[in-house]
Amino acid sequence: MAFSFQLLLILYAAIQRGQGAKQQKDHVLVLTMATEETEGFQRFRRSAQFFNYSVKVLGLGEEWHGGGQKIRLLKSALEEHAEDEDLVVLFTESYDVVFASGPAELLKKFQQAKSKVVFSSETLIYPDRRLEAQYPQVPEGNRFLGSGGFVGYATHLQRLVSNWEGPDSDNDQLFYTKAFLDPEKRAGLNITLDHRCRIFQNLNGALDDVVLKFETRRVRVRNLVFDTLPVVINGKGPTKLQLNYLGNYVPHAWTFERGCTVCAEDLRSLASLQDEALPLVLVGVFIEQPTPFLTQFFQRLRNLRYPKKRIQLFIHNHETHHLPQVGAFVHEHGQEYRAVKVVGPQDPVEIADARNAAVDLCRRDPMCEYYFSLDADVVLKNPDALRALIEQNKFVIAPLVSRLGKLWSNFWGALSAEGYYARSEDYVDIVQARRIGLWNVPYVSSVYLVKGSTLRDQLTQTDLFRSGKLDADMALCHNIREQGVFMFLTNQQPFGHLLSLENYQTTHLNNDLWQIFSNPEDWKEKYIHENYTAALKGKGVETPCPDVYWFPIFTDAACDELVEEMENFGQWSKGDNTDTRIQGGYENVPTIDIHMNQINFEREWYKFLLDYIAPITEKLYPGYYTRTQFELAFVVRYKPDEQPSLMPHHDASTFTINIALNRVGIDYEGGGCRFLRYNCSIRAPRKGWTLMHPGRLTHYHEGLPTTKGTRYIAVSFLDP
Ligand SMILES: *[C@@H]1O[C@H](CO)[C@@H](O)[C@H](O)[C@H]1NC(C)=O
Ligand SMILES: *[C@@H]1O[C@H](CO)[C@@H](O)[C@H](O)[C@H]1NC(C)=O
Ligand SMILES: *[C@@H]1O[C@H](CO)[C@@H](O)[C@H](O)[C@H]1NC(C)=O
Ligand SMILES: *[C@@H]1O[C@H](CO)[C@@H](O)[C@H](O)[C@H]1NC(C)=O
Repeated sequence: MAFSFQLLLILYAAIQRGQGAKQQKDHVLVLTMATEETEGFQRFRRSAQFFNYSVKVLGLGEEWHGGGQKIRLLKSALEEHAEDEDLVVLFTESYDVVFASGPAELLKKFQQAKSKVVFSSETLIYPDRRLEAQYPQVPEGNRFLGSGGFVGYATHLQRLVSNWEGPDSDNDQLFYTKAFLDPEKRAGLNITLDHRCRIFQNLNGALDDVVLKFETRRVRVRNLVFDTLPVVINGKGPTKLQLNYLGNYVPHAWTFERGCTVCAEDLRSLASLQDEALPLVLVGVFIEQPTPFLTQFFQRLRNLRYPKKRIQLFIHNHETHHLPQVGAFVHEHGQEYRAVKVVGPQDPVEIADARNAAVDLCRRDPMCEYYFSLDADVVLKNPDALRALIEQNKFVIAPLVSRLGKLWSNFWGALSAEGYYARSEDYVDIVQARRIGLWNVPYVSSVYLVKGSTLRDQLTQTDLFRSGKLDADMALCHNIREQGVFMFLTNQQPFGHLLSLENYQTTHLNNDLWQIFSNPEDWKEKYIHENYTAALKGKGVETPCPDVYWFPIFTDAACDELVEEMENFGQWSKGDNTDTRIQGGYENVPTIDIHMNQINFEREWYKFLLDYIAPITEKLYPGYYTRTQFELAFVVRYKPDEQPSLMPHHDASTFTINIALNRVGIDYEGGGCRFLRYNCSIRAPRKGWTLMHPGRLTHYHEGLPTTKGTRYIAVSFLDP
């Protein structure tokens, strides 16, 4: 008994070893087909490399004729493996395919299928619906065969295709379907379908069934209907875009905090290049509608850290309103660039044509390595943006810019069936930089970089910005997608933001002043003194007289534009109290002035007081909370021959601010303010600085005489 039991054990162990050996010996070869190395193909290859698949590519460099070609190439590739009993061959398409797991899992699932050949399954029957009745019924899962992916022993696959003689243009899916529907062949070759998508996931017809499943170190695609984690994902046809989306996560080892592995690949470093060796870039600037802060836009363009001699500018200005700013930029700095071409509003050109012309300029110049498109509403704060984009080395890439505090941005995460915006699951996280990386997206706009070679090789259509009735931006993206070129978006560093153009009026002289509501950050950058923030923390606030504070508030631009605006309006008061302009309020001492409400600036001025004066008041006069209510806010003009000074008076306010708008010693002489109780004078007001002092009781004061030139100050009586 003991002996035979031992024998049994040995036998059993031998069987186990034998089976183990069989499993060990099976190995996987991936055969795929690609006539061109498109970006889709590169994505496939990258995912195969990630999981260490061995891949053999068939058809590279051949002209594409059709599905029959795939069978022909497979047939000849399998000839050399006809005797290799342990070889498991996975045949798959490549352009719209990624791997979600490695060969070990593939092999395991294939062996579990207990068939010699396993085809992917589909929910939809194609290409011949009349064959439906011949399909076996299945208790669960997809019923129909898909030929985009199948796996089987080389010996069996070889037999499956060995009798293929058809033309290259034939339909391969029909060929494999017929083999499968022939009961003899199905049994003889032991063919089954992967009904429950354990190995193959075709996205076509199954989009809603598929979600991403985030694990600690990686992301899988999960089929919710069958609760499976497929290994090979095929997004052929209309679901291509969904694959672009999935491909952002799969198979890259992913952590939300720190981007994707794909970001680091294929980089092109500019670091070692001398200025003169940097790639030549054509920058297309587009001013298509009235746009605030255009002077700052040109300033930032100049501040791009890129040699101007390697930049050629194409400026399309559609707006007569902006002629002076464009003219000033070109006049003052045009010659610093390699070349400048301006198309102005005097040559009426449609948006699409202007953009086509800019792109074509790069396309037709073999020296032009990059085309960088930049719309005037983009606030590109990062001076290294252009370099960073070039270094990513993509055909088409955009930096993320969005409206501050809004979800409006320059990309779409997904596309609706009609080709318009659809929100992707990750859109908000990308806009808010909670997920950081390089993203394959279906639409970018406003600012993007395209390789010159891509314009010459793939995007050769001269009418790139037109497609049916689509707007120019959507037409461009449509045409890029049609060519199988990927558009990437990077949010790996902050690049800047988008202006809001909604409430921009052009009825004033200096319209940006009115932008404090629509574009508060840009307003602040242009108009608020750079040392204001420090003053808010108490740094650099001076006290020239008791309880009189003195601190920086306005930039030169704010001062100059406010004065210009008043002079442009021109209706200065007479300096007597016959004035009925102000409802309810009154001036103790009449001055020659124009009130903020006369230029329709009182809402904006109130917002300025609330945002910038109130916080500092509460710092400097602790315990006092202002609502910065005002009845009187105006710009005063002092001139020796008009009204040079102001007699001693109280202000009709709890406190007063008094902002010097021009420069003593240059724009005027004399001036200043004297507080009588303290016998204390401020004789050299600083442009852009404000005095802040209590209005009544203690701070009886006078305006000292202006002896030469014209002095302007902006005065507000607060909390009357
Ligand atoms: C692929 O092979 C490399 C080197 O053998 C190994 O370090 C890596 O972990 C493998 N990748 C996977 C996904 O198994
Ligand atoms: C394939 O072969 C296995 C046994 O080797 C058998 O159980 C299975 O039914 C066969 N499948 C088909 C479709 O013939
Ligand atoms: C801001 O403060 C710094 C440090 O005191 C000074 O150097 C700089 O000139 C100030 N800026 C302006 C615009 O006055
Ligand atoms: C006020 O101060 C000035 C010098 O700062 C001095 O000459 C003058 O006498 C003072 N007046 C009074 C009334 O104290």
